[in-house]
Amino acid sequence: MLLVKTHEIRERFTQHFVNSGHEAVPSASLILDDPNLLFVNAGMVPFKPYFLGQQNPPFAKGLATSIQKCVRTLDIDEVGITTRHNTFFQMAGNFSFGQYFKEGAITNAWTLLTGSVDEGGFGLDPDRLWVTVYLDDDEAAEIWRDKIGVPEERIQRLGMEDNYWSMGIPGPCGPCSEIYYDRGPEYGKDGGPIADDNRYMEIWNLVFMQNERGEGIGKGNFEIVGELPKKNIDTGLGIERVACILQDVDNVYETDLLRPVIDVAEELTGATYGDKASHEDNIRFRVVADHSRTGMMLILDGVTPGNEGRGYILRRLLRRIIRSAKLLGAKGATMERFMNTVMDTMTPSYPEIADNRERILRVAVNEEKAFLKTLESGTRLFDDAVQELKSTSRAKTAKVLPGEKAFELHDTYGFPIDLTLEMAQEAGLEVDMDGFNDAMGEQRRRAKADNQAKKHGHTDLSLYRDWVDNNPTVFTGFEELTSDARVIGLVRGGEKVDQVREGEQVEVILDHTPLYAEAGGQMADRGRIMAGESLLEVNDVQKIGKKLWVHKATVTAGGLDLGMSVEAAVDEQWRHGATQAHSATHLIHAALRQVLGPTAVQAGSMNRPGYLRFDFNYTEQLSQAQLEEIALITNQAIDSNFAVNTIETSLEEAKAMGAMALFGENYGKEVRVVEIGGPFSIELCGGTHVASSAEIGPVSVLGESSVGSGARRIEAYSGLDAFRYYSKETALVEGVSRELKVQTEDLPERIAQLSEKLKAAEKEIETLRKQQLAARASEFVGAAKDINGFKVIALTLPEGTTGGDLRTVATDLRNRLREEEAVIVLGAEDKGKFPFIAAATDKAVGRGVKSGDIVKEFGQYVDGRGGGKPDMAQGSGSTAAGAERGFAAVKDMLESL
Ligand code: ALA
Repeated sequence: MLLVKTHEIRERFTQHFVNSGHEAVPSASLILDDPNLLFVNAGMVPFKPYFLGQQNPPFAKGLATSIQKCVRTLDIDEVGITTRHNTFFQMAGNFSFGQYFKEGAITNAWTLLTGSVDEGGFGLDPDRLWVTVYLDDDEAAEIWRDKIGVPEERIQRLGMEDNYWSMGIPGPCGPCSEIYYDRGPEYGKDGGPIADDNRYMEIWNLVFMQNERGEGIGKGNFEIVGELPKKNIDTGLGIERVACILQDVDNVYETDLLRPVIDVAEELTGATYGDKASHEDNIRFRVVADHSRTGMMLILDGVTPGNEGRGYILRRLLRRIIRSAKLLGAKGATMERFMNTVMDTMTPSYPEIADNRERILRVAVNEEKAFLKTLESGTRLFDDAVQELKSTSRAKTAKVLPGEKAFELHDTYGFPIDLTLEMAQEAGLEVDMDGFNDAMGEQRRRAKADNQAKKHGHTDLSLYRDWVDNNPTVFTGFEELTSDARVIGLVRGGEKVDQVREGEQVEVILDHTPLYAEAGGQMADRGRIMAGESLLEVNDVQKIGKKLWVHKATVTAGGLDLGMSVEAAVDEQWRHGATQAHSATHLIHAALRQVLGPTAVQAGSMNRPGYLRFDFNYTEQLSQAQLEEIALITNQAIDSNFAVNTIETSLEEAKAMGAMALFGENYGKEVRVVEIGGPFSIELCGGTHVASSAEIGPVSVLGESSVGSGARRIEAYSGLDAFRYYSKETALVEGVSRELKVQTEDLPERIAQLSEKLKAAEKEIETLRKQQLAARASEFVGAAKDINGFKVIALTLPEGTTGGDLRTVATDLRNRLREEEAVIVLGAEDKGKFPFIAAATDKAVGRGVKSGDIVKEFGQYVDGRGGGKPDMAQGSGSTAAGAERGFAAVKDMLESL
């Protein structure tokens, strides 16, 4: 058996297909902008438009080969249990777009698998290979038997579920033929792949892509809606499975890419992997290895941990690693070692990891830190709940963890629900998922209602349905700032009306409008609607159903009637400012990606005249140097006076241009691309922009801050507001420098000196104050009163005397009076509080005085509490008003002892 590194298996594959005229295409990112796919899950995904005939394949001979990064998390629970399920894996494929078909695909695969090692093949024993074909695919079966020479008994037929491949969603599909490797009787029973898919491991799937599938559910239940324009080939060979065979290891977690992680896990946890370990422990080791790699590759492609979608998957994977390591016996943090190990093994095939090591570590380790903090308290809550369930009843309910508990674990302790489910399963419990979903739904509803209420008041959107469907607004604001229009709708107080009059707050719907409605982060235009003597001030414009512009306006003169002709005008100054800010936002976005890398993905933005903010996914605080660099790149782009082009095109074209699109944003077929300085910034955007970058004027970055987990915000002023900001700052600095009588550049040093001085002075004052108090000790002793044979000092000391000071003075006084039966009660106002203390000499204590009782009594008069030992006790109150009555009460106490 040939012992090869996985990296070499990849190279052999590529070389084999390049030799026969295929163009080698690099793997696409795991994240493609397809709303139906969380992650790329097959080698053909990036080629989908070529199969469907939407685009011509750009490969000279119509042939391509790739090794695509894939993530499949559907069977995350299978990881480590079977021998062959990885959540991340590499799918090697060859693709023919209308070129060779079944025979070509089969021959190509066979020669690589069974070709001799010396000639670049994998050198597999042909007698160990089995194949399956689709039920009625006699053509494929014949090729296998007659052209390749596979014996009839090793060609098996399977149905739709297994041998008819589609993406699981509408798209290209076709019958397929799979190649299996017989791992030998120690892995299972005889009878070929239809009898045992563990012993006979599937290594290669050849799809004869010839149809288009329609809607339907899953793998077996869908309609075929037609034929593809051409007959194509899509294949997928599992690199990790071939590695498992060629490296002669038991499972895909023990190859050269993942076994080192298991070794590190053994070292960190003290547990042992392998035959001697328990089944559960072995699974945990494999989970750690598998998930470490998947997590690392996801972070590499820009995913950050979060609570939704991709971020949630990553979070779940990372948290499963942490928990598995803990269950294996890890005491502290383990993530850094796991990540470093898997980055080492993967870098030969993915050299880009080298440039991203630090970032990957940071994201993973931060998540570990956050989770370790809550894991313990969450686990305690979980264990308590389990304990309670088990002890309180024997009935069926004892087996179900209540939904609110699961919700609390999620909400307060950040436990992904799947983690709770797993833990419950291990404890022999079920989780009340309906209850959990109700609680989640309730929380979402509240959040949504909040947002809706903020946005639209409580308007019933069905009011606008008719206009949206039949009379959408034509937006003219890219070409002109004033347009003639007709009033086609008037709304007042949530109801349609025929006319509006002076003084009223109304909504106006026009057939044309140049006013920009709030969208894509850009605030709505301000402007006017005019007709003769009538004037309306527009203070907001919202879009409904993406089609209807609703102007929210105040009628300041005259009125409007339905059907009237009007002139709608944008406030030019406003538009100018908003446009500057929006273009500046694009520049900052581009600059940010230059400085932080392509994974600083936009998460939201807002711009209005003079101001912008930009939110993006990033887990670390930005340094001052990074912020300065972002500001510099932005202002350099302005200084370059880049031309700004807007292009209307198809979504595909836009992406081909490299336009940045927001994930999750629902773009139509036709999109608008805004390009500033050619490749410098290309974004999909429906907003208004300057004609050339210099029009933006200066941009001043104010700073950055965190906005929730994994996201940060940059804020900036643009145009004249940036200038105003700078002049204000300058004036401020000049003022300070005049005041301090130093040059501006010497300010930092001067201020540091002053603050040093101030600290020293404060310290000195503090010492003096203490000395002064100490010096008054004999004065205080002199003020002692005789009560019931006790020498009693009960005094309010000067304001600013701290609890600590009180203790020093009380101790000193008690010392001086130690030969007597003395009791000292002191209090003072300090920073809005009223600390107090009671002290008694041994002799007083001997007569039954308890300082603790004294502070308790006294505390009632100053709204406070306290406690301590018989010889000394302290407390703190919140008012000085009752102090005198407090002292009197203490004296009464002593009187009656
Ligand atoms: N697209 C085929 C698969 O994913 C090769 O199995």
